[in-house]
Amino acid sequence: MLHENLTINDLGHLCIAGADTLLLAQKHGTPLMVMDEQRIRRNFQIYKGAMAKYFGEGSFPAFASKSFSCKYIYRLAREENVGIDIVSSGELYTALEAGFNVEKSFFHGNNKTDFDIEYGIDNGVGHFVVDNMTELDSIDRIARKKGIIQPVILRLTPGIDPHTHASITTGQVDSKFGIAIETGQADDAVRYTLSKANIRLDGFHCHIGSQIFDIKPFCDAARLMIKYIAEIKEKTGYEAGILNLGGGFGVRYIPSQPELDYEEFIRLISEFINLEIEASKIKRPIIIMEPGRSIVADSCLTLYTVGGTKEIPGFKNYVSVDGGMPDNPRYALYQSDYTVCLASRMNDKNDFKCTVAGRCCESGDLLQENVDIPKPQRGEILAVLVTGAYNYSMASNYNRIPRPKVVGIRDTGDFEIIRRETFADLTKNDL
Ligand code: LLP
Repeated sequence: MLHENLTINDLGHLCIAGADTLLLAQKHGTPLMVMDEQRIRRNFQIYKGAMAKYFGEGSFPAFASKSFSCKYIYRLAREENVGIDIVSSGELYTALEAGFNVEKSFFHGNNKTDFDIEYGIDNGVGHFVVDNMTELDSIDRIARKKGIIQPVILRLTPGIDPHTHASITTGQVDSKFGIAIETGQADDAVRYTLSKANIRLDGFHCHIGSQIFDIKPFCDAARLMIKYIAEIKEKTGYEAGILNLGGGFGVRYIPSQPELDYEEFIRLISEFINLEIEASKIKRPIIIMEPGRSIVADSCLTLYTVGGTKEIPGFKNYVSVDGGMPDNPRYALYQSDYTVCLASRMNDKNDFKCTVAGRCCESGDLLQENVDIPKPQRGEILAVLVTGAYNYSMASNYNRIPRPKVVGIRDTGDFEIIRRETFADLTKNDL
């Protein structure tokens, strides 16, 4: 199947990590997200191993927790001894609640409030990834007030177009994120940062985009960033100790997409880095990467109960399920590809072409169009695969639909990761 953790058992039911999805749906109800813990650990370990091997000691992955943020994942990140990328005080709070040592964290965001900065400093955030100079002024001011010197890295835009969806492209000069190298603003930013008494500049960051299958833009970005480290050293004498290359490796959502070999990608990027380091004679920086999607996406699937089908002659067929854009807004937002299957009859003929619709009062509430599955009956279980990244973390309560339950699978069986929201949860902040 799409990934090796997905199988079909003798009953013709879809299984994840060996667990029968029908039994899980029966036990926990739907919509239900099911995560394969071993797969997440394996993904962490691929990055950790390859980065240590090819980038050298001190290099490590910092999980982009915006892709799936909850206490469980920070505990897992702690156990696997990786860092984290956080993008809000809410993510930081969740990580702290999970007992994560945030010294190994990178605090992102293009508009960190004074509250964010103060909260980050008070809790010992390792690095702020500075997006602009007004933010830098605030960090310097707050650090001075607290009598500390705050480590930061600067987010730069190397001017790379990775040819992915426009909403998830970030490395070009015209971006709300970061400081452009091309315009000379990066040079000014480095000089300005070095002039700040309560800031320690530890290096640079770039992130070119997300869901990218082509290795070239990553290699180009790495090469440009190393080149920049050499150039700025020549201009100012400042030598960066950290180069954070962001995230963005693509994940296979549908059969026609490749399953990338992340270790090989990292090896290739390291070759470009090595060439550039040799040419420019700078010292080797510690390399950080921030994978999000490629850590959690393929560990997970979402199970729904089919409510019914609607066949409109001459137009199309709809299958309605008991979730939709509240638990997965990605098709509505980006027309994202997903593989859909009827978990209860995996060996039956996929002879019913349909559009899978959610239950919201909104025509755009679709999970996928033009999928082929066996014609489902009301009450059957439908699965959407590869839903671990940017699904739960982007979930909403639109139409006052409670967020789904998330369970995990490990050797000892299934366990709860996030409980299902209740109606009481929906009104708990209403006055
Ligand atoms: N680092 C930075 C600074 C980022 O902005 C992101 C993603 C990552 C790392 C992780 O990238 P990944 O490895 O997950 O591709 N909501 C969109 C994705 C937005 C990505 C935002 N930044 C989606 O559902 O496709």
